[in-house]
Amino acid sequence: MAKKLYIKTYGCQMNEYDSARMADVLAPLGYEPTAEVETADMVILNTCHIREKASEKVFSELGRLRPAKRDREAAGAEMIIAVAGCVAQAEGGEITRRAPHVDIVLGPQTYHRLPELIARARRAADPERRGIVDTEFPVESKFDHLPETSAATGVTAFLTVQEGCDKFCTFCVVPYTRGAETSRPVEEVAAEARRLVANGVREITLLGQNVNAYHGRAPSRFTGKAGGSAEWGLGRLARHLAEIDGLERVRYTTSHPRDMDDELIEAHRDLPQLMPFLHLPVQSGSDRILAAMNRQHRVVDFRAIVDRLRAARPDLALSSDFIVGFPGETDADFEATLALVRETGFAMAYSFKYSARPGTPAASLPQQVPEAVRTERLDRLQTLLRDQQQAFNAAMIGRRLPVLLAKPGRHPGQLIGRSPYLQSVHLDAPEASIGQILPVDILALSPNSLAGRLAHEPAAVRERLSA
Ligand code: SAH
Ligand code: SF4
Ligand code: F3S
Repeated sequence: MAKKLYIKTYGCQMNEYDSARMADVLAPLGYEPTAEVETADMVILNTCHIREKASEKVFSELGRLRPAKRDREAAGAEMIIAVAGCVAQAEGGEITRRAPHVDIVLGPQTYHRLPELIARARRAADPERRGIVDTEFPVESKFDHLPETSAATGVTAFLTVQEGCDKFCTFCVVPYTRGAETSRPVEEVAAEARRLVANGVREITLLGQNVNAYHGRAPSRFTGKAGGSAEWGLGRLARHLAEIDGLERVRYTTSHPRDMDDELIEAHRDLPQLMPFLHLPVQSGSDRILAAMNRQHRVVDFRAIVDRLRAARPDLALSSDFIVGFPGETDADFEATLALVRETGFAMAYSFKYSARPGTPAASLPQQVPEAVRTERLDRLQTLLRDQQQAFNAAMIGRRLPVLLAKPGRHPGQLIGRSPYLQSVHLDAPEASIGQILPVDILALSPNSLAGRLAHEPAAVRERLSA
């Protein structure tokens, strides 16, 4: 009988990708995904360590799992509990000390070892034992040991091309939890992209903690020739992927301003497949704070990059990340952030209160900003960002946008699609048009999406599809 696998994913898109790959690794062992934790033979919490709140969620979830596991075991069934992801990497054996019912703790680079870890956990089944902890950064790449991605279930997909980070921003745990920067070879990425497209995917988002630091081994047929470089950057990779027939849209996230090179900016100019929406975290509008954060760029550099990107692709919309209340941030520093936001204009953005992370340099800086000040600044920044997002969305009304029709909507006859700017658009359209990119007239704004109408009569669309 099939065993049930329950995975709960926290944190970034890379964790979402990893969760899907863990399911791929476990499929040959007979595990099928379930949405019900109580009946699961295996539970994986794929965790995030980025802020204190994210980390603490894991322990409250583990508390809830304890009675569920006890009940299953009392009934003679199994519930193997694994903690994966960035909390696993950061806390290691501390997790099994705090939560002894955890069987396996595994870091983000050891997923391919799951079958072995499960076998070891079963062998060690002894109520007094400590869980098995595997938080190595192995020499082998997990990607070389993972099975091929399973059949995609939608028209959009993630594809991790780069892992880890060498930037060491002083507030951030990622370089410690994900390890050093590495890139997957171009051929491997292209092969995975082709498989996704063959399975019906039309839009791929290339992922990496520092995705534009990508430097993957170039295909050998390109390196032999005079002048062929051994490694390709993200711009060159995007150009290569854009040649895949049926791959209509390419995105990438998360990028760092330092790594926005000429080739990538030119790719935005030249490739219609590269969507005109870019997530480019800046964190702060104050040079003093950027320096203390070790961001390795100044405000003028960010401005110059944005200008060059907009010159290359005038319809480009921007998103970003901000941290307020970094240690030492004064009112003037914060005002500089607001000024940069006003001047740049963002289609959307994420903003966070600084959260001191154990082991990071910023955590031990003097002049931690009081909670009340952080809260007040976050509130002001979010009000401004919300207004900008609202204005950006409102400006879509009356426009005709190419919309990728992705899935059925809530009402009969309705589909949900995705605009070039990652907005969800709901409209009436034949179900057979899922996977198509069709022109849609945007009519109105609802809280979380745009309402639109097919630019052409549904009958004409149906006819075209059956032709
Ligand atoms: N690699 C990406 C970001 C990864 S984390 C980059 O370089 O931008 C996503 C976002 O979380 C960051 O951009 C930052 O805004 C936020 N973040 C990271 N560490 C944080 C901390 N200690 N406190 C608050 N926010 C943090
Ligand atoms: Fe963290 Fe900075 Fe690396 Fe982004 S670039 S993952 S914020 S250390
Ligand atoms: Fe969180 Fe790790 Fe991603 S800390 S944001 S899950 S890289």
